[in-house]
Amino acid sequence: MAKHDLDPNYLDPNYEPVVNHTENTPFHQVLSARMQRRTVMKGSVGAALASVMGLGLAGCGSDSNDSTTSSNVSSTDIGFRAVPTSTANEVVVPEGYSSEAFLPWGTPITGSYPAYKPDGTNTGAEQEQQMGMHHDGVHFFPIDLKAGGNSSSEGLLVMNHEYINQGALHANGATYVNDMRPADEVRKEIAAHGVSVVHIKRDTNGKWDIVFGSPFNRRITGNTEMDIRGPVRGYSKLITKYSPDATETRGTLNNCAMGPTPWGTYLAAEENWHGYFANGDATQPREQTRHGVGSSSRYDWELADSAADQYVRFNVSTIGATAADDYRNEANTYGYMVEIDPFTPESKPQKRTALGRFGHEGVIFAPAREGKPVVCYSGDDSRFEYIYKFVSSKPYYAATAGGYLLDEGTLYVARFNDDGSGDWLSLDLDDADFAAKVAAAEGTQVGDVQFDGFENQADVLLNTRLAADIAGATPMDRPEWGAVDPNSGQVYFTLTNNSRRTEEQVNAANPNANNRTGHIIRWSEEGNDHTATSFDWDIFVFAGEQGTETVVDDEVIVSLTDDNIFNSPDGLWFDYNGRLWIQTDGSDAAPYQNNMMLAANPETREIKRFFVGPVGCEVTGVVSTPDVKTMFVNIQHPDGNWPDSSDPRPRDATVIVTKDDGDVIGA
Ligand code: FEO
Ligand code: CA
Ligand code: CA
Repeated sequence: MAKHDLDPNYLDPNYEPVVNHTENTPFHQVLSARMQRRTVMKGSVGAALASVMGLGLAGCGSDSNDSTTSSNVSSTDIGFRAVPTSTANEVVVPEGYSSEAFLPWGTPITGSYPAYKPDGTNTGAEQEQQMGMHHDGVHFFPIDLKAGGNSSSEGLLVMNHEYINQGALHANGATYVNDMRPADEVRKEIAAHGVSVVHIKRDTNGKWDIVFGSPFNRRITGNTEMDIRGPVRGYSKLITKYSPDATETRGTLNNCAMGPTPWGTYLAAEENWHGYFANGDATQPREQTRHGVGSSSRYDWELADSAADQYVRFNVSTIGATAADDYRNEANTYGYMVEIDPFTPESKPQKRTALGRFGHEGVIFAPAREGKPVVCYSGDDSRFEYIYKFVSSKPYYAATAGGYLLDEGTLYVARFNDDGSGDWLSLDLDDADFAAKVAAAEGTQVGDVQFDGFENQADVLLNTRLAADIAGATPMDRPEWGAVDPNSGQVYFTLTNNSRRTEEQVNAANPNANNRTGHIIRWSEEGNDHTATSFDWDIFVFAGEQGTETVVDDEVIVSLTDDNIFNSPDGLWFDYNGRLWIQTDGSDAAPYQNNMMLAANPETREIKRFFVGPVGCEVTGVVSTPDVKTMFVNIQHPDGNWPDSSDPRPRDATVIVTKDDGDVIGA
């Protein structure tokens, strides 16, 4: 297939086309920028919610025998001195803290452990045994988790590799011969995506290293075999030559954030997967147009000079006689949350379709409660897209919990009302309200789609965005990561920015037109019950420059200063003590300079800058050991020769942060 109609924006790795052309919210009263009327939060500190879900770890207020929070049992105070903004090509941490780069792209972690070659000549096969590129969401699983332990000195570090820098990956960047790409270059690019599972251990000197030869060390790539699970499994619109019964696919791509499950597995999100497929047909189906699949792909994998299916499948044009003869449906096997069991190295990853198909940024689970449904939240990071919640139909019991809990349940989408209340709108055809909305929409134009109905619930989930349009969800300013406060149960989400929102499109939850710096929203579920269908929300903080105010009921609650100006919040994580960590993905421009990570006290909204990354990077992905004494922070797409000034290639890496006195980070 010839390369044609290249959308120049595809060269921008963070490009997210505006594909929601519905106008779900009528004209709203224009609130003055950075003003937020009073919203009453129902949440309160509750010890019952203080456990760290799924990990058997203790959060503050717990009466377990966990000793890890001893120095800081009931405080989420921010104890360090804020670091200034930085333009340095190095990591900056507060006085009394140290940092060290770990597991950079290309580090051998499995198989024959092929050495990283700084000249870019590692092969595709070698990349399949090395750390991928563009580290993103990350989680630390204590090695003794399955035995009820919470080791802080040994575990499985699992992380996503969101996308790639072709210039750094290859000796001479991406190459073309007669408009085709050498297949091994493409193999290497596919292998630099996906997920890494790395068994790591800290020695008696406090130094972390890979456990070489560990059976847990594993690479999952854009070519790993996976099962389709949940309601979309077996649906005709997922039939491919590879899987004529629509039950399997290969690979996971553009894995942004993630979420650890309450049963010790890892869910990797598929975010901007649309950019990997090319459709040369005159018209495209709604399940592609609503995501922005184009006539050419970001990396031209469909142009590999090989007839092997593993490359051909990225061309989703209609070529064969039937769907079982080509890959017209391949893109329908992407856009899900993918479950990986890091403790079972031979396990096949499972795409959990009940959680919906969209641009999943990540997922965050509410604390699991014995005998109650499992609840998780996921944002769709694109301009004017939505926030979703899944509630399992089966109850959680720790002894028998597993991925099956994610295969049956109800997917909801959020409506943020202007009065500070909110509703979870069901996307289930068995729900009378949703079924009525679907019936009313049939035969009408929904955004760019002439809507002719849904065949069944699998069709609803395949077209989750369209279903949410019809349900009347609130279009948000690019929902990125979510986090659940282990103390209050409140749910926080970053809304990174949306420069396309006009004055006519503002609503109370997204009150700024031309929102270039973003904000963080939070809510409490009614009765602090995560299965509730209504909630109360407020805005935690507006990002921006010095003097940016977050005002509640005419009172200035936060006014940003040199210590905490930030721009485009993205990564978000509550540590096991209840401090909130905020990571940024903005430009390096003044006054913010390099991207950063800040710590926040959720009760007082005190915010301090803790960490600044090197030039050109985004700071994304953060987790700690259970004792919160070793923190892992990911640096994605540095553009200088970081972390090794003698290496001409930038290398995405994890940064290990520790406090020099060995105490709890952030305290
Ligand atoms: Fe991959 Fe929305 O950041
Ligand atoms: Ca992100
Ligand atoms: Ca981002």
